[in-house]
Amino acid sequence: MNILLIGAGGREHALAWKMSQSHHCDQLFIAPGNPGTASIGTNVAIDINDFKALGQLAVEKAIDLIVVGPEEPLVNGIFDFFAQNESTAHINVVGPSKNAAQLEGSKAFSKHFMQRHAIPTASYAEFTIDNYEEGKQYISNHSLPIVLKADGLAAGKGVIIAFNHQEALASFEEMIQHKQFGAASSKVVIEQFLEGIEVSVFALTDGKDYQIIGHAKDYKRIGEGDTGLNTGGMGCVSPVPFMDAQFMEKVEKTIIQPTIAGIQKEGLVYKGFVFFGLMNCSGEPYVIEYNCRLGDPETEVILPRLQTDLVSLLAAADNGTLIDVNIEFNEGAYATVMAVSAGYPGSYPKDIKITGLDSTPTDPKTLVFQAGTGFQGNDIVTKGGRVLTVTAQGKQLQEAVSNAKNALSHIHFDGMYFRKDIGYEFN
Ligand code: AMP
Ligand code: GLY
Repeated sequence: MNILLIGAGGREHALAWKMSQSHHCDQLFIAPGNPGTASIGTNVAIDINDFKALGQLAVEKAIDLIVVGPEEPLVNGIFDFFAQNESTAHINVVGPSKNAAQLEGSKAFSKHFMQRHAIPTASYAEFTIDNYEEGKQYISNHSLPIVLKADGLAAGKGVIIAFNHQEALASFEEMIQHKQFGAASSKVVIEQFLEGIEVSVFALTDGKDYQIIGHAKDYKRIGEGDTGLNTGGMGCVSPVPFMDAQFMEKVEKTIIQPTIAGIQKEGLVYKGFVFFGLMNCSGEPYVIEYNCRLGDPETEVILPRLQTDLVSLLAAADNGTLIDVNIEFNEGAYATVMAVSAGYPGSYPKDIKITGLDSTPTDPKTLVFQAGTGFQGNDIVTKGGRVLTVTAQGKQLQEAVSNAKNALSHIHFDGMYFRKDIGYEFN
């Protein structure tokens, strides 16, 4: 099978690594990819939203399977573009249709969906300029803290947690009146704050059946002990000790099954990954959000743990045999630790040389996944805030974390920072 992978981060490096291990994988192209993916397949300099150019490449290279890493092309309708074009309609594009991708692309759409299917989530209301005054009233009467969410995609920045009413009203005004997040905040969802521990569950669906391919806990804050600003994710562990069979049974019964049944009942065309962002509130799971893709850095920990061939799995989701696949996991615990640029998640320098990428230990096996990196001559340099992640396995979680940190000690770039306490609460 010839495969085209879309994206350029650590998630895509991990996807490329995993898919390249399949004997079903012939040629692998990555658009646009990064130096990490270039070591596995062929990078092609095409923008992730340039569907026409991606379509031409797919025809030219006789692509059979397309895997989309980030949400933007999915929300913009890449699935429909390929399905509606005669020359590309035969290609297995893994991802929801544009309509179904609203489960991630519109907070209001996903909240309505959850309400229709009685899926546990925070209570909410939605407001636009048309009922702005009513929104102010709603906020003033709301318990604290209050969560405000821009309806549309806002590059992970559209959620504000306000700890007093004044702050909430100011954010509401910024979003609606001053279009803080552009069109994405012309509608705002205001919801109840859920107290608990945030975790992620990943499934693959064909719109009828599903398979759980992993779960993880992501450490989102920049500082140790979960302090400081929110980031895209500083590290992950999998499996998560408290996500035992009993908890996962609740997740399946109250969340995953009604979600997939809802997708089918509503005729949403969805063949792809579903990322359930959950809050564990004293043992009861609630949905914080749906994403229609895999997570980053969750992918970097769940794919090394997944033993099952990913390419076969994606083929099964296309030919109606997903239910027959046996999902198997590797033994032990997995951890991934993200190395970021100095200053991240604020502004940070770029083009800093990275050394030691080839000198990380292979026993115990560790994997380096590149995220925000680029070539500069023969060097690999930093290009983003989240630069690279190291995934390691261990008999127990702490051993996995310690193996990952040991591998990171062989890698260097000026200003490199990583959290040394990933998995700290499970010590
Ligand atoms: P989202 O973009 O919906 O994932 O929200 C970003 C982050 O805000 C989440 O990962 C949570 O940490 C937090 N968050 C979102 N909604 C809630 C909520 N209702 N209660 C508590 N925290 C929330
Ligand atoms: N790590 C969270 C995300 O990918 O959205």
